Amino acid sequence: MSTATTTSPSDAQATTDRQRFVYMETMGCQMNVYDTERMGETLAAERYAPTDDRTAADLIVINTCSVREKSEHKMISLLGKLRPLKEHNPELVLAVSGCVAQQEGERLLKKVPHLDLVLGPDQIPELPRLVREARDAHARAAAVDFVHRRDYQFAEAQAPTDGRVTSFVTVMKGCNKFCAFCIVPSTRGREVSKPSEAVVAEVARLADAGVREVTLLGQNVNSYGLDKRGRHGGDGEVDFAGLIAKVAAVPGMERIRFTTSHPMDCSDSLIEAFGTTPELMPWFHLPIQSGSERVLRMMRRRTVVEDYVARIQRLETVRPGIAMSTDIIVGFPGETEEDHAQTLELLERVRYSTIFAFMYSPRPGTAAARIDDDIPLPTKKRRLHEIQALQNGITADWMATFAGREVQVLFEGPSTQYARGAASNSLAKRPVGGPPQLMGRTPENIKVNVETHDFYALRDWPGRLARVRIDEVGRHSLNGSLIGFD
Ligand code: SAH
Ligand code: SF4
Ligand code: F3S
Repeated sequence: MSTATTTSPSDAQATTDRQRFVYMETMGCQMNVYDTERMGETLAAERYAPTDDRTAADLIVINTCSVREKSEHKMISLLGKLRPLKEHNPELVLAVSGCVAQQEGERLLKKVPHLDLVLGPDQIPELPRLVREARDAHARAAAVDFVHRRDYQFAEAQAPTDGRVTSFVTVMKGCNKFCAFCIVPSTRGREVSKPSEAVVAEVARLADAGVREVTLLGQNVNSYGLDKRGRHGGDGEVDFAGLIAKVAAVPGMERIRFTTSHPMDCSDSLIEAFGTTPELMPWFHLPIQSGSERVLRMMRRRTVVEDYVARIQRLETVRPGIAMSTDIIVGFPGETEEDHAQTLELLERVRYSTIFAFMYSPRPGTAAARIDDDIPLPTKKRRLHEIQALQNGITADWMATFAGREVQVLFEGPSTQYARGAASNSLAKRPVGGPPQLMGRTPENIKVNVETHDFYALRDWPGRLARVRIDEVGRHSLNGSLIGFD
């Protein structure tokens, strides 16, 4: 099968039953986070407990991202830091999973002699076996085959026991779009949708465990179900809007979000769902990448700017106040000052709540990597800076509209500032024993911190929807006071 084993595993069953520890680090997107959680669950069944201390770990898993060169560098630098640990403790098993693992496969084992395992995203179910073989027989392996659509088994979230009130649920894997700049189709393979009954069952399990907000994940969730329906004759499965309706019907799941979408498949039914489904939160991340038609064509995005803007206008009509966000790539090969000006113009027109802007980074094997990366770094930097400066102003204007308003908040837990104070027992701003400060989010996904004199708040508030008055507007978060619970 998929595993290329460089030394032969002898006795895979030879396990001793002592408690072991795993240190995991996630470098990528939400789907990467979800995969880390699932790997943690399969390892827990093998008596690996999580630890934050690398030096105490029997197993280290680095779940990598390769979307930009920088993400790959992060992995290389961490592997370098881990080398002395491995030299010190040859029993330590070191694994690289995720998108760089998929991209590099066996090459990574050759390049990094202290690495034991390389595991692609489709091979997560193999992790416990490969770890056992590495531990007991020092077998090094690279498992990076894609699993065919018919045989694909989605990892599913178990009921969380950590009291969390928000959770991710992967609803599809892979991507069929092949945008010219993007490595994801080659690291995640083709689209496969998780059957809707499995999604609903997973969401119901999470709701039973106290989760109140779910974010449905996929590289391109708008094409959910297309691999099953329509084009191939159809077997009665739902599209993404249909899936949202099913998830919204799960008792106890108060809020639904999703990410990410390609504008091309942003269907009318999905837009209408924002008007008809109160559980679907008014926040929509719809990456455009550039405001220039010419650049979008070179990027193979199959998106027309005017259609895109018209869809946003329609969304704003069906769901007034909806927060839009986007991704922008600056300095794609051949991008002119005029193209760049059109991106700035688009930001002015749409007035996104937030954007994520990146400098173009050529990725191996992509269509764009074959064209010269001709925009000089200083130009890329300047354009990025101009985009960010413009957007900072737009975001600030948008945040200011919340001042004095009453908003709905779902409390998640202690605010980071408060938690940090408690963790370090510092006498800084929020000493232990001071009034608790909780963090929650508005429907638009803005963080809100609320201080209270209710000393049971940390225990009682998470998972509850409340009405909060906004007293203070920060750059990326709000401060408010509790009016009451819904
Ligand atoms: N599936 C998502 C994108 C996932 S990658 C979508 O289609 O929107 C997240 C973001 O990283 C992309 O939206 C893009 O803005 C950025 N990105 C992807 N490849 C990149 C590259 N080669 N260089 C710079 N940014 C890139
Ligand atoms: Fe990459 Fe495009 Fe697929 Fe998004 S839709 S993951 S940008 S290829
Ligand atoms: Fe990165 Fe892979 Fe996600 S490349 S963005 S971890 S799908």
